[in-house]
Amino acid sequence: MTHEHRRIAVVYATEQGSTRDIAEFIANELAGRETTVELADIDHAPDSSRFDTLVLGSAMHNMDFLPAAVDYMHAHHDELVHRQVWLFSVGLGPSLRGPIGRRVGRIVPKKIAALRDSIVARDYRAFAGRYDRAGVSLRARVQYRLLGGGRYGDLRDWAAIRAWTDNIAHSLRLPPARSTTIHP
Ligand SMILES: Cc1cc2nc3c(=O)[nH]c(=O)nc-3n(C[C@H](O)[C@H](O)[C@H](O)COP(=O)(O)O)c2cc1C
Repeated sequence: MTHEHRRIAVVYATEQGSTRDIAEFIANELAGRETTVELADIDHAPDSSRFDTLVLGSAMHNMDFLPAAVDYMHAHHDELVHRQVWLFSVGLGPSLRGPIGRRVGRIVPKKIAALRDSIVARDYRAFAGRYDRAGVSLRARVQYRLLGGGRYGDLRDWAAIRAWTDNIAHSLRLPPARSTTIHP
Protein backbone atom coordinates (compact mmCIF):
# COMPACT_ATOMS: atom_id res chain seq x y z
CA MET A 1 0.00 0.00 0.00
CA THR A 2 1.35 3.46 -0.81
CA HIS A 3 0.92 6.44 1.49
CA GLU A 4 0.78 10.09 0.64
CA HIS A 5 3.97 11.74 1.91
CA ARG A 6 2.82 14.19 4.57
CA ARG A 7 4.61 17.38 5.45
CA ILE A 8 3.79 18.17 9.04
CA ALA A 9 4.70 21.26 11.07
CA VAL A 10 4.58 20.93 14.84
CA VAL A 11 4.54 24.47 16.20
CA TYR A 12 4.40 25.51 19.84
CA ALA A 13 4.01 28.58 22.02
CA THR A 14 5.45 28.14 25.49
CA GLU A 15 6.36 30.27 28.44
CA GLN A 16 8.01 27.78 30.76
CA GLY A 17 8.84 24.89 28.44
CA SER A 18 6.28 22.19 29.16
CA THR A 19 4.39 22.81 25.90
CA ARG A 20 7.68 22.57 23.99
CA ASP A 21 8.39 19.13 25.50
CA ILE A 22 4.94 17.93 24.46
CA ALA A 23 5.41 19.31 20.93
CA GLU A 24 8.80 17.56 20.72
CA PHE A 25 7.25 14.29 21.81
CA ILE A 26 4.47 14.58 19.20
CA ALA A 27 6.98 15.48 16.48
CA ASN A 28 9.13 12.44 17.38
CA GLU A 29 6.12 10.15 17.28
CA LEU A 30 5.07 11.39 13.82
CA ALA A 31 8.54 11.59 12.30
CA GLY A 32 9.82 8.98 9.91
CA ARG A 33 6.42 7.48 9.12
CA GLU A 34 6.58 8.57 5.49
CA THR A 35 6.43 12.11 6.78
CA THR A 36 8.63 15.16 6.90
CA VAL A 37 8.18 16.77 10.30
CA GLU A 38 9.37 20.23 11.23
CA LEU A 39 9.32 21.29 14.87
CA ALA A 40 9.39 25.03 15.56
CA ASP A 41 8.74 27.67 18.14
CA ILE A 42 5.81 29.78 16.95
CA ASP A 43 8.10 32.77 16.42
CA HIS A 44 9.98 30.67 13.84
CA ALA A 45 7.05 28.79 12.32
CA PRO A 46 7.80 27.44 8.83
CA ASP A 47 6.21 29.02 5.77
CA SER A 48 2.77 27.49 5.40
CA SER A 49 3.49 26.49 1.79
CA ARG A 50 5.98 23.92 3.18
CA PHE A 51 3.40 21.82 5.05
CA ASP A 52 -0.06 20.36 4.58
CA THR A 53 -0.70 19.47 8.21
CA LEU A 54 -0.15 21.54 11.33
CA VAL A 55 -0.09 20.44 14.94
CA LEU A 56 -0.28 23.65 16.95
CA GLY A 57 0.08 23.79 20.72
CA SER A 58 0.09 26.61 23.23
CA ALA A 59 0.28 27.00 26.96
CA MET A 60 -3.00 28.28 28.37
CA HIS A 61 -2.85 31.56 30.24
CA ASN A 62 -5.96 33.31 31.57
CA MET A 63 -8.31 30.98 29.70
CA ASP A 64 -6.72 31.73 26.34
CA PHE A 65 -3.80 30.65 24.17
CA LEU A 66 -0.60 32.66 24.59
CA PRO A 67 -0.65 35.94 22.61
CA ALA A 68 1.91 34.61 20.08
CA ALA A 69 -0.42 31.71 19.23
CA VAL A 70 -3.50 33.94 18.99
CA ASP A 71 -1.63 36.37 16.71
CA TYR A 72 -0.37 33.51 14.55
CA MET A 73 -3.87 32.07 14.09
CA HIS A 74 -5.27 35.48 13.14
CA ALA A 75 -2.39 36.31 10.79
CA HIS A 76 -2.49 32.92 9.03
CA HIS A 77 -6.21 32.30 9.19
CA ASP A 78 -6.73 31.91 5.43
CA GLU A 79 -3.90 29.40 5.02
CA LEU A 80 -4.89 27.44 8.12
CA VAL A 81 -8.46 26.83 7.00
CA HIS A 82 -7.02 25.07 3.94
CA ARG A 83 -4.77 22.82 6.00
CA GLN A 84 -5.44 20.09 8.48
CA VAL A 85 -4.85 21.61 11.88
CA TRP A 86 -4.74 19.75 15.17
CA LEU A 87 -4.76 22.08 18.17
CA PHE A 88 -3.74 21.47 21.74
CA SER A 89 -3.43 23.55 24.88
CA VAL A 90 -1.40 22.91 28.00
CA GLY A 91 -2.90 24.01 31.29
CA LEU A 92 -4.41 22.72 34.49
CA GLY A 93 -7.95 21.66 33.52
CA PRO A 94 -7.23 17.99 32.79
CA SER A 95 -5.50 17.56 36.16
CA LEU A 96 -8.58 18.57 38.16
CA ARG A 97 -10.25 15.73 40.05
CA GLY A 98 -13.59 15.03 41.72
CA PRO A 99 -17.07 15.65 40.31
CA ILE A 100 -16.71 19.46 40.13
CA GLY A 101 -13.10 19.42 38.97
CA ARG A 102 -13.78 16.98 36.17
CA ARG A 103 -16.69 19.08 34.93
CA VAL A 104 -14.69 22.32 35.11
CA GLY A 105 -11.72 20.61 33.47
CA ARG A 106 -13.81 19.73 30.44
CA ILE A 107 -14.91 23.33 29.78
CA VAL A 108 -13.32 24.76 26.66
CA PRO A 109 -12.69 28.48 27.30
CA LYS A 110 -14.74 30.70 24.97
CA LYS A 111 -11.77 32.38 23.28
CA ILE A 112 -10.14 29.02 22.57
CA ALA A 113 -13.39 27.58 21.20
CA ALA A 114 -13.76 30.62 18.92
CA LEU A 115 -10.22 30.25 17.53
CA ARG A 116 -10.62 26.48 17.13
CA ASP A 117 -13.82 27.03 15.13
CA SER A 118 -12.49 29.94 13.07
CA ILE A 119 -9.65 27.87 11.63
CA VAL A 120 -11.87 24.76 11.39
CA ALA A 121 -9.41 22.66 13.43
CA ARG A 122 -9.73 18.91 12.98
CA ASP A 123 -9.51 18.45 16.73
CA TYR A 124 -8.63 20.29 19.91
CA ARG A 125 -7.28 18.66 23.05
CA ALA A 126 -6.34 20.09 26.43
CA PHE A 127 -3.37 18.47 28.19
CA ALA A 128 -2.16 18.96 31.73
CA GLY A 129 1.15 20.78 32.07
CA ARG A 130 3.28 21.88 34.98
CA TYR A 131 2.11 23.72 38.03
CA ASP A 132 4.81 24.77 40.40
CA ARG A 133 3.70 25.55 43.93
CA ALA A 134 6.39 28.16 44.42
CA GLY A 135 5.05 31.62 43.63
CA VAL A 136 1.37 30.60 43.64
CA SER A 137 -0.63 32.84 46.00
CA LEU A 138 -2.55 31.35 48.89
CA ARG A 139 -5.79 32.52 47.28
CA ALA A 140 -4.95 30.73 43.99
CA ARG A 141 -3.93 27.58 45.91
CA VAL A 142 -7.24 27.53 47.80
CA GLN A 143 -9.17 28.07 44.54
CA TYR A 144 -7.23 25.29 42.87
CA ARG A 145 -7.92 22.89 45.74
CA LEU A 146 -11.64 23.76 45.80
CA LEU A 147 -11.83 22.96 42.09
CA GLY A 148 -10.40 19.52 42.66
CA GLY A 149 -6.75 20.38 42.12
CA GLY A 150 -4.08 19.87 44.71
CA ARG A 151 -1.30 18.20 42.81
CA TYR A 152 1.72 20.29 41.86
CA GLY A 153 4.79 19.79 39.73
CA ASP A 154 4.85 17.96 36.41
CA LEU A 155 1.26 16.83 35.73
CA ARG A 156 1.76 15.80 32.12
CA ASP A 157 0.07 12.58 31.04
CA TRP A 158 2.31 11.07 28.36
CA ALA A 159 -0.07 8.17 27.71
CA ALA A 160 -2.86 10.66 26.85
CA ILE A 161 -0.48 12.61 24.61
CA ARG A 162 0.61 9.44 22.85
CA ALA A 163 -3.01 8.34 22.35
CA TRP A 164 -3.91 11.69 20.79
CA THR A 165 -0.86 11.53 18.53
CA ASP A 166 -1.95 8.04 17.47
CA ASN A 167 -5.33 9.51 16.49
CA ILE A 168 -3.58 12.07 14.31
CA ALA A 169 -1.43 9.36 12.70
CA HIS A 170 -4.51 7.24 12.12
CA SER A 171 -6.43 10.14 10.51
CA LEU A 172 -3.48 10.87 8.23
CA ARG A 173 -3.21 7.13 7.46
CA LEU A 174 0.44 7.07 8.39
CA PRO A 175 2.16 3.71 8.49
CA PRO A 176 2.94 2.39 12.00
CA ALA A 177 5.98 3.75 13.83
CA ARG A 178 9.05 1.50 13.54
CA SER A 179 10.09 2.21 17.08
CA THR A 180 8.35 3.77 20.02
CA THR A 181 9.77 6.82 21.72
CA ILE A 182 10.69 6.13 25.30
CA HIS A 183 9.61 9.00 27.49
CA PRO A 184 9.21 9.55 31.23
C1 LIG B 1 0.11 33.69 34.39
C2 LIG B 1 -0.43 32.28 34.23
C3 LIG B 1 -1.75 32.11 33.89
C4 LIG B 1 -2.27 30.79 33.74
N1 LIG B 1 -3.58 30.65 33.39
C5 LIG B 1 -4.08 29.39 33.21
C6 LIG B 1 -5.45 29.21 32.82
O1 LIG B 1 -6.21 30.14 32.61
N2 LIG B 1 -5.90 27.94 32.67
C7 LIG B 1 -5.10 26.86 32.88
O2 LIG B 1 -5.58 25.74 32.73
N3 LIG B 1 -3.79 26.99 33.23
C8 LIG B 1 -3.27 28.23 33.42
N4 LIG B 1 -1.96 28.38 33.79
C9 LIG B 1 -1.11 27.20 33.99
C10 LIG B 1 -0.19 26.96 32.77
O3 LIG B 1 -0.92 26.86 31.60
C11 LIG B 1 0.64 25.71 32.96
O4 LIG B 1 1.52 25.97 33.99
C12 LIG B 1 1.37 25.24 31.70
O5 LIG B 1 2.05 24.03 31.99
C13 LIG B 1 2.36 26.27 31.19
O6 LIG B 1 2.92 25.80 29.97
P1 LIG B 1 4.42 26.17 29.54
O7 LIG B 1 5.34 25.44 30.49
O8 LIG B 1 4.55 25.66 28.13
O9 LIG B 1 4.58 27.66 29.62
C14 LIG B 1 -1.42 29.67 33.96
C15 LIG B 1 -0.08 29.87 34.30
C16 LIG B 1 0.42 31.16 34.44
C17 LIG B 1 1.88 31.35 34.81
